[in-house]
Amino acid sequence: MGTEAGWCLLLCLALSTAAETEPSAAAGQWRPVDVVLDCFLVEESGHRGTLVRSENRVKALLVLQQVPVLDDGSLEDFTDFQGGALVRDDPPTVIFEASVDLIQIPEAKALLHADCGGKEVTCEISRYFPQAKEAKAETAAWFMANMQVSEGGPSVSVVMKILRDTDRGATWHPTLSLPLTHQGTVQTAVEFQVTTRTQSLNYMLESTVSLDCGFSMAPGLDLISVDWRLQHKGSGQLVYSWTAGQGQAEREGATLEPEQLQTAGNASLILSSLRVKDEGAYICQITTSLYRAQQIIQLNIQASPKVRLSLANKALPPTLICNIAGYYPLDMAVTWTREELGRSPVQVSGASFSSLRQSTAGTYSISSSLTAEPGFAGATYTCQVTHVSLKEPLGASTQVGPPEQKMALGVIFASGLFFLALLFLGLQRRQAPARVGLLQA
Ligand SMILES: *[C@@H]1O[C@H](CO)[C@@H](O)[C@H](O)[C@H]1NC(C)=O
Repeated sequence: MGTEAGWCLLLCLALSTAAETEPSAAAGQWRPVDVVLDCFLVEESGHRGTLVRSENRVKALLVLQQVPVLDDGSLEDFTDFQGGALVRDDPPTVIFEASVDLIQIPEAKALLHADCGGKEVTCEISRYFPQAKEAKAETAAWFMANMQVSEGGPSVSVVMKILRDTDRGATWHPTLSLPLTHQGTVQTAVEFQVTTRTQSLNYMLESTVSLDCGFSMAPGLDLISVDWRLQHKGSGQLVYSWTAGQGQAEREGATLEPEQLQTAGNASLILSSLRVKDEGAYICQITTSLYRAQQIIQLNIQASPKVRLSLANKALPPTLICNIAGYYPLDMAVTWTREELGRSPVQVSGASFSSLRQSTAGTYSISSSLTAEPGFAGATYTCQVTHVSLKEPLGASTQVGPPEQKMALGVIFASGLFFLALLFLGLQRRQAPARVGLLQA
């Protein structure tokens, strides 16, 4: 698929030069462009009489035709797809051309520019079967294309319809039994689209998140329902459902804007006061009178640890306790360093952990303890915690004084007392006879 790579390179080049120059007068203009994506066509075949189901993956090309993209000047040298003649593979690659006149594709730009940002778009096309009985397989065929930008970027799912009743003279694809255009492509029309702008989100405990999900559908289709489900560790639950104008929250504080839903196709779910148990994969499922599609958004909850360092016993040996409290998720690392005055810090080993505690809120706490060896001059100990919720490691330090000095002081103090006691006794003894004498007198 050398031509395809060349096509992308050209676009990246156009983009990079545009980035250097000032935004042109054309900035903010919508321009229709062809979005060409490398895909896999997945065909499932179940063999009769056996339980073996095999998946056949072949290369395919998806051309989203003339998608309006906001032009920031980067699309000036952009050329449209030149038709099937460009791709000469053996066996020939299936090319799906998809007109998007009936719907909007809001994340088209992300799909177009992913290559240049070092990201990848994975695209998978598979057969789709509408639920409704009106959808007759004799007159039409359907495919669904799932396009996902890597690194948690946007994900777009489209349902494409292919009319089978084209003119008799048309050639047909040998295996897919689909009519082909004169260029040898499969012409489709996108009738339904469900998109999320982010496939993965990290949010802090107690914050509010908006899980992005939007759709658009061809005229004549009706919105039937919106369901938000949470899937976590093998169990699923309904979070919010909207049916026939009625919204129902199954999780307290889950909301959806009914206005936004019906006028803008915005089915984003808002969750407030996030808890650890809100973590998981959220499935946004949109059902229309003919099609159903969904997007999955992974929500990860994070809570930063509080770090406190204390000296447990002043007696020997002194023990340092680093208390790491209220963090989530579980993965966390502690490093201990010891620093003598005028020297660079040295990492020390030999720390031990207490048992792990989990609060009712789901956050974790643990303490790490270390026997301090302050040496002759004393040392500063630091316990440093690394956690996914922290941009930089969080540390706490304390100074441990030299025990020898303390002991010496103690000895001096103790011997001082002893000496005083002796002196006192001695004095008493010397005074005693005097007293006796006094009595005698
Ligand atoms: C959809 O609605 C949510 C709030 O309900 C908002 O945060 C988001 O920006 C909206 N999305 C679009 C594409 O307008």
